[in-house]
Amino acid sequence: MTNAKKAAAIKALDYIRDGQIIGVGTGSTTAYFIEALSAYKHRIEGVVASSVATAKALKALGLPLMELNDVNKIDLYIDGADEINDRLEMIKGGGGALTREKILATASAQFICIADPSKQVKLLGRFPIAVEVIPMARSFVARALVKWGAFPEYRVGFVTDNGNVIIDCYQVDCSDPLAVETAFKALPGVVDCGMFAKRKADVWLSGA
Ligand code: A5P
Repeated sequence: MTNAKKAAAIKALDYIRDGQIIGVGTGSTTAYFIEALSAYKHRIEGVVASSVATAKALKALGLPLMELNDVNKIDLYIDGADEINDRLEMIKGGGGALTREKILATASAQFICIADPSKQVKLLGRFPIAVEVIPMARSFVARALVKWGAFPEYRVGFVTDNGNVIIDCYQVDCSDPLAVETAFKALPGVVDCGMFAKRKADVWLSGA
């Protein structure tokens, strides 16, 4: 699927207009996009990163890195996904960057998802839903997720860019993705979750 990932990433360049501020996601598909974006560095106003790793990659290529706090809006957000359905709702967060990804996606006028055809599903939920949790609430949130009907698994040894932990939730009934996202986010201690139903993608590029 490497070719499809690369093709999707390169196709995303067609959506960029001169002078725009581009939000950049995290992951292996986005890595191809970052590489391709370096040819556009003098045409765009800036880039905003969804993770420390992405910021490092953008900086290394000399792209004009900006902070979300210093910009009024992001024109375009480009990111991958772990699963995507026909309504362009997604599960993201395999790489653990879901909270910053969701902030940038929501702050952006347009969200272009670059995800190869293997990510397409009829029903979301085979890929676990990552839940970012404040460390002191880890067990409390895990118990609440069990009560809710999920099978939570602590991502051992992983700390997010925000200093939090991740609980991956398996076997979640995702027939109503927005309901899942709303329920998970409502648990005290949860920062955000990898269900992207409220802010879904506007365009999906599969690279196929
Ligand atoms: C990172 O936290 C994720 O949301 C990624 O966007 C997602 O896991 C897709 O990654 P790949 O492009 O590596 O498949």
